[in-house]
Amino acid sequence: MKLVLTTMLLFVAGFAHAAHELEGRDLESGKVLYDEHCASCHGANLEGQPNWQTADEDGVLPAPPHNERGHTWHHGNALLFQYTKLGGSEALAERGISGFKSGMPGFGDTLSDDEIWNILAFIWSTWPERIQEIQAVRNPPHN
Ligand code: HEC
Repeated sequence: MKLVLTTMLLFVAGFAHAAHELEGRDLESGKVLYDEHCASCHGANLEGQPNWQTADEDGVLPAPPHNERGHTWHHGNALLFQYTKLGGSEALAERGISGFKSGMPGFGDTLSDDEIWNILAFIWSTWPERIQEIQAVRNPPHN
């Protein structure tokens, strides 16, 4: 019983902070920025590139979809933010995975932090509620 309660509390904490960084964002601006900076690779409808799970001869993967068929929602907000700001290789290097050749460029020089959050909030807003709830649990509770 105690274990069940603790698990439930963790869940509730997860939900409470679900969209924390994504709350109150400008979704319209996020969509405009997405179309401008991300759609060329991730697709106008967030569908990703064809055969996105197959790496090319250099070992670089194509851009994955950002819709529910991809794995963007498997990650917490912090990783998605870093991936966008720093680019794939650097974001992973920060997490101790070095030498990964990522096709995802960093946007830290092009977009402000707020603009990146607006885009991520737009992407998030397109997911079905069920997926939003699962993704929410990936976000560590803040104080
Ligand atoms: C030049 C092509 C290109 C552009 C432009 C691009 N991406 Fe990516 N993105 C990629 C590739 C390729 C990957 C897969 C990276 C990997 O294997 O590390 C990726 C991965 C990601 C991931 C990790 C997703 C996951 O499912 O693990 C996020 C988040 C992301 N991109 C966000 C964005 C955002 C937001 C923009 C626009 C600001 C953007 N990307 C623009 C190519 C691109």
